[in-house]
Amino acid sequence: MATLLPKKVLCVCLGNICRSPTAEAVLRYFFTQNHLHIVVDSAGTAAYHIGEAPDSRSQKHARQRGYDLSKLSARQLKIQDFIEFDLILAMDHQNFKEIQKLQQQAIKQLTAEVCKAEVAMMTAQDQIRQNQAIADPYYGDAQDFELVIDHCEAASQAWVNALNKLTKE
Ligand code: 4NP
Repeated sequence: MATLLPKKVLCVCLGNICRSPTAEAVLRYFFTQNHLHIVVDSAGTAAYHIGEAPDSRSQKHARQRGYDLSKLSARQLKIQDFIEFDLILAMDHQNFKEIQKLQQQAIKQLTAEVCKAEVAMMTAQDQIRQNQAIADPYYGDAQDFELVIDHCEAASQAWVNALNKLTKE
């Protein structure tokens, strides 16, 4: 991880309707609760759901656990994101590869100096699930949607711990 505290973090999955909007809301909550002033957003590597609200199942399970996804809208990851964000967090390994592919294009077009975003797994700091995927719940059941929230909460707490350590160094 970089030695500077990120100012802007982007959570990325495939469709930006299940995992990454959940990760966005959970990470924002954990940052706010811990007085970390970091902007959080989300995007998808695919274009299938651009402009759509998060999946109704994600919204329902998140709402039951205190997270409001209703105002979010899906968008696709773009080259500009590598300039704007300091840290891009992939929900699974395929997303990670797709993010890296676009990162290479961004660097080619705009140079590595301006494309400052570091790419990591959402779970990178979670000692229990380190660098493991947050499983895609799209074709799953209620339990799979709950697991996404469980794993986003654990990953978010782990990011808070890691970033708090950075601020004390
Ligand atoms: P997400 O889930 O990547 O967590 O938003 C999915 C959403 C849509 C599809 C697959 C996964 N899809 O195939 O449309």
